[in-house]
Parts: sequence; structure tokens; C-alpha cells
Amino acid sequence: MAENIEKLGVLGAGVMGAAIAHTAALHGISAVCVDLEPSILEKARARLDQLMKERISRGKMAEEEREAVWQRLHFSVDFDAFQEATWIVEAIVEDLEVKKDAFSRLDAVAPQARLLASNSSSLSITAMAAATRRPERVLGLHFFNPPQVMKLVEVVSGLETSSETLAEGNALAQRMGRVPVLVKKDRPGYIVNRILMAQFVEALRLLEEGVASIEDIDTAVKLGLNYPMGPFTLMDFTGNDVNLHVLEYLFTETGEAHYKPPLVLKNLYISGRLGRKTGKGFYTYES
Ligand SMILES: NC(=O)c1ccc[n+]([C@@H]2O[C@H](COP(=O)([O-])OP(=O)(O)OC[C@H]3O[C@@H](n4cnc5c(N)ncnc54)[C@H](O)[C@@H]3O)[C@@H](O)[C@H]2O)c1
Repeated sequence: MAENIEKLGVLGAGVMGAAIAHTAALHGISAVCVDLEPSILEKARARLDQLMKERISRGKMAEEEREAVWQRLHFSVDFDAFQEATWIVEAIVEDLEVKKDAFSRLDAVAPQARLLASNSSSLSITAMAAATRRPERVLGLHFFNPPQVMKLVEVVSGLETSSETLAEGNALAQRMGRVPVLVKKDRPGYIVNRILMAQFVEALRLLEEGVASIEDIDTAVKLGLNYPMGPFTLMDFTGNDVNLHVLEYLFTETGEAHYKPPLVLKNLYISGRLGRKTGKGFYTYES
């Protein structure tokens, strides 16, 4: 019977949402991805198809596998698509009020879901859980970009999250071919972004103080710390809208000076000189 097929529901078909649904489908799990407008879904579908065609042309994927993925992966603008979901992952804008509203709607539309997860980079899981009537079923499942490649998933416990829900989240991450780590306490930034964001701030301060150029800071970190990419390349890749939201949240919540968003980031973002939608990043900004 169709209702017995396990299915992942993903809210948001942006950079992360579509890619998380794709990762599930690549690992044999049916998935439905929901966003606000058909045009967003079309773009997501085209992005994923292009990705798979490139993998096929490099001999890393068979044509039949691409077809099988499209059998398992669906898109919708209708929240009711979540009525069949076994698990739900939210991957919309990094704004706590918007996410709380989404969690309250997901709670109402999907009583059958075994867990409601957020892919937030930093925000309080406990606050999102409090917007539902089943906080014990809410957790963080923080995938990294691109989730088809990046192995890590932070499984984040909110204050009320049950051990069964954490085990379910852990098992889901493993079924998607990822490596879960448990974040036992709900603290801003969890593990990775708590460390990474402080590094971003330091790189931005070096730029502000005129100590070195964007390119030289990236080269120094790459070669000196043996990182695969430098902080400015990574900031552009993550999206400076996301970085600014995360830093503002970490600074507000912790008061720690090492999370204070440097003015150079704020000003470049406000002026529109940085932004994923425009394709502009630090490397198109001439310091
Ligand atoms: N970009 C990254 O590298 C990265 C990595 C890990 C986690 N995250 C987190 O993942 C989440 C999404 O980030 P992204 O980079 O994919 O953002 P994005 O802007 O690419 O996508 C967000 C999508 O959510 C949709 N959306 C917004 N409000 C909605 C609503 N109420 N209902 C349905 N859809 C809605 C938007 O239309 C958009 O398509 C954020 O919480 C972010 O912090 C991002």
C-alpha cells in the first residue's frame, strides 16, 4: 500500500532543501520537496538534473540511476504533500520566527511524521519545538553544503527531544549515507558553525584592518592550516545572507565579541555587493 512507503518530506527547495531531498533519493529513499512557487521548484529540478548529467558524463553515474532518482523525487507547492511523510526536514530561510511558523504548520499537517527536523545552521531547536505540540519529536539535522558530498550531519537535541527521536534522526542520516554526530545540548551554532563563524570573523577583521588581501588570506589559510578552501571562498559558497544571519544570531545569543559581524560584511551585504542571487561574492568585490 502506498501509505506504507517511507518518505522524506523537505520544506524548502533552495540550495540545501533540494539537495537534501536529492541525497535521500540517491540513497533509495522517496522524497518530496515543497517550496512556495513552481518557478523555484523548476529551478531546483533543473539544477539536480544538470548535476546528475555531469556525473553521468564523467562515468560516475548510470543513466538508469538518474531515471530511478526521478522516480523517487517529487516537488510540490502544496503543504498537504507532507501528509505522507515519515520524516520531515525543514530547510527554509535562517530566521527563527519564519521557522517557528513553519514548524507549527508542519505539526498540524503531518501528525504521522516520526520526526520534525530543522536544517538550521545555528538557531534554537528548543524554540522551534515549542511551536509544536510534540517537542519530543523535534530535533536538528544539520547537513552541510553540498549534502550529496559532505558526510557530516549534526544531530541536535532540543531541550525536550526524546532519545527515540535522536535515534531515528541518527538512523535516517546513516541511511542517507551520512555520518551523524550527536550535539547533546542545544547551543547556538552547534559544533561546526560555533568554530567556523569565529574564523570568518577573524578573516573579515584581517581584511578590515588591511593586513592582507582576500586572496592572500585565503591562500594563507589553505596552505597554512591545510584547509581545502580559504574563508572568503567558503563564505561565498555558503552564502553571505546565511553567514550574516548566523553571526547576528550567535552574537545576540552569546554576547561573545568573536561573533560580532564586522561592518565590512554588513555593509557589503546591505549595499547588494554580496549575494548569492546576484552571483556576487568577495572575489567580485575589489578591496
Ligand atoms: N547554504 C548553506 O551552505 C547551508 C548549509 C547548511 C545549512 N544551511 C541552512 O539551511 C537553510 C536553508 O538555507 P539555503 O542556503 O538552502 O537557503 P535558500 O535561500 O537557498 O533556500 C531557502 C528556500 O526556502 C524557501 N522558503 C522560504 N520560506 C518558506 C516557507 N515559509 N515555506 C516554504 N518555503 C520557504 C525559499 O523560497 C527558498 O527557496 C537555512 O536554515 C540555512 O542556515 C545552509
